[in-house]
Amino acid sequence: MTDTATVQSTAPNAEGFRTYRLGGFTFSRDEFFVHVSWPTGSHTLSVDIFLRALQRDVAWDFFYGTVNFDPVIATVNHYGTVDLCAGRFNESYRKAELDHVENFASPEILATFKAMLDDWTSAEFDPFASPSETGKPFGVKTGSNTDAVTRRRVAANRMVSVPGDEAVRTDATHPINRMFADVVQDAPLVEAEPGFENEVAAFNLYAYISRSDVTWNPSVVSQCKASLYCPTSEEYILPVIHGNDRVEWFVQLSDHIVWDVQDGSSGAKRATVTMRAGDVAAMPADIRHQGYSPKRSMLLVWENASPDLPEMIRTGRAPTVPVKF
Ligand code: PHB
Ligand code: FE
Repeated sequence: MTDTATVQSTAPNAEGFRTYRLGGFTFSRDEFFVHVSWPTGSHTLSVDIFLRALQRDVAWDFFYGTVNFDPVIATVNHYGTVDLCAGRFNESYRKAELDHVENFASPEILATFKAMLDDWTSAEFDPFASPSETGKPFGVKTGSNTDAVTRRRVAANRMVSVPGDEAVRTDATHPINRMFADVVQDAPLVEAEPGFENEVAAFNLYAYISRSDVTWNPSVVSQCKASLYCPTSEEYILPVIHGNDRVEWFVQLSDHIVWDVQDGSSGAKRATVTMRAGDVAAMPADIRHQGYSPKRSMLLVWENASPDLPEMIRTGRAPTVPVKF
């Protein structure tokens, strides 16, 4: 589908990067900054912040709910169409009437975002990698890193390690990360009854996560109806400020993450949540959050992927929190 969507771009500028147009929005980059303009305003953000957020928005197909690149630029997923927003979730921009929203068919905005991500990522930079494990995003255009920016997140159909699933990680494909050298790599012994060899399976989740080569990129390791287990390894800062359209659960599996939790609509501060190994938290459906992981850590994100949830929450048929105390 995306192949047929047209991408509007100019010839490369002096730094080697094309400028992209999407509806009333224009995106351009120079050595250090990305400049976004729309009919009622404009905004500049650092290119590292922009590319790390853009990478996730593309690879996650606009994710659940809102993906804020920073306090001004955001996308909202309507699962088929996507809103591109400037200042929509920023009280000051809304008061000053500088905010702007346009809705696009998902394949159209995805095609432009993919083209921009590929064009604006030079050879030495991997937007999915921890800043300690990649080169710089800055400077004039020098080559490209198409293999890195076209990575998709791993998504198991049943559970990792069940026969037929391709999501297994080995020494050859995924060496143990430098920060997880002490993680025991034992595998559980499974003794299935004859006839159940294809149904009964188990794997070492810690060993699996210790081999992740990217950060802040949940992979789906198991699926039971709409229940998805999405573990991930984290280091430095979650590159998007995520406003979910449903409740999501976090289980901190190792080390710690500090979550900055804000009101989903205005960005007003609501809480700082420090999660240490073993802590479990539910993030409400009306907030947005950004995580800070001072050391590489392991996090399990548990999502309910039911397509009915956003509408149920919007109409008050489902609560914004899982439990009322
Ligand atoms: C989230 O927005 O909840 C989220 C996204 C990516 C992660 C962790 C959490 O790696
Ligand atoms: Fe989230």
